[in-house]
Amino acid sequence: MTELGEPDAAGPYERPDEVGVGAWPGEWPDDPRYDPALLAEGDRRNVVDHYRYWTVEAIRADLDTRRHPLHVAIENWQHDLNIGSVVRTANAFNVAAVHVVGKRRWNRRGAMVTDRYLHVQHHPDVDDLAAWADAERLPLLGIDNTEGSVPIETADLPRACVLVLGQEGPGLTPAAREACATTLSIAQFGSTRSINAGAAAAVAMHAWVRQHAGRG
Ligand SMILES: C[S@@+](CC[C@H](N)C(=O)[O-])C[C@H]1O[C@@H](n2cnc3c(N)ncnc32)[C@H](O)[C@@H]1O
Repeated sequence: MTELGEPDAAGPYERPDEVGVGAWPGEWPDDPRYDPALLAEGDRRNVVDHYRYWTVEAIRADLDTRRHPLHVAIENWQHDLNIGSVVRTANAFNVAAVHVVGKRRWNRRGAMVTDRYLHVQHHPDVDDLAAWADAERLPLLGIDNTEGSVPIETADLPRACVLVLGQEGPGLTPAAREACATTLSIAQFGSTRSINAGAAAAVAMHAWVRQHAGRG
């Protein structure tokens, strides 16, 4: 069935105006991945059909078995509202983790609870992120359209890496630019200086996906 709740012949009862599925019809499956509360009440979460009725823990564990070696970091010095959207997209592309650099607290609204299904790691400053990346042997790649940046459209992205985004207003801090091996820009053609960090993160992650996802 679709996310819009279209009925499917074999599936549980659907209301076309609701997302997801209703209560499990008939005898319940004997599988610890299923959540009894969801089986009883239905599953209206924004999850792909494969995970319908699964517990959050079971979904997260399953995603853990096939996460991409891509990490995304975003600076958070002023409670950037884009972080929720970055987390949601990072979940969709099943990245290894999202790293929040700066303030620990971030606005979860845009994440639409997707933060429950992936790893979000906090770093108090860029030095801490850089030390972690160094220990993991992961290059930091800045994403910004600052002078000297390289077009992401034609760049070869490493398979294992960290894409580092700046925040609305200031963009990447000097410390972050310094820590990054290179900085990649997204081509623009209009009058605005930049797109928002959430949109830039999605474009950058997808550039990586086009080069590496689904390959061994
Ligand atoms: C709204 S931008 C602010 C900074 C931007 N350098 C400026 O001059 O307006 C916030 C963040 O979004 C990302 N971003 C926005 N537009 C971008 C672009 N065209 N290329 C790469 N990153 C971009 C960068 O990570 C940037 O730090």
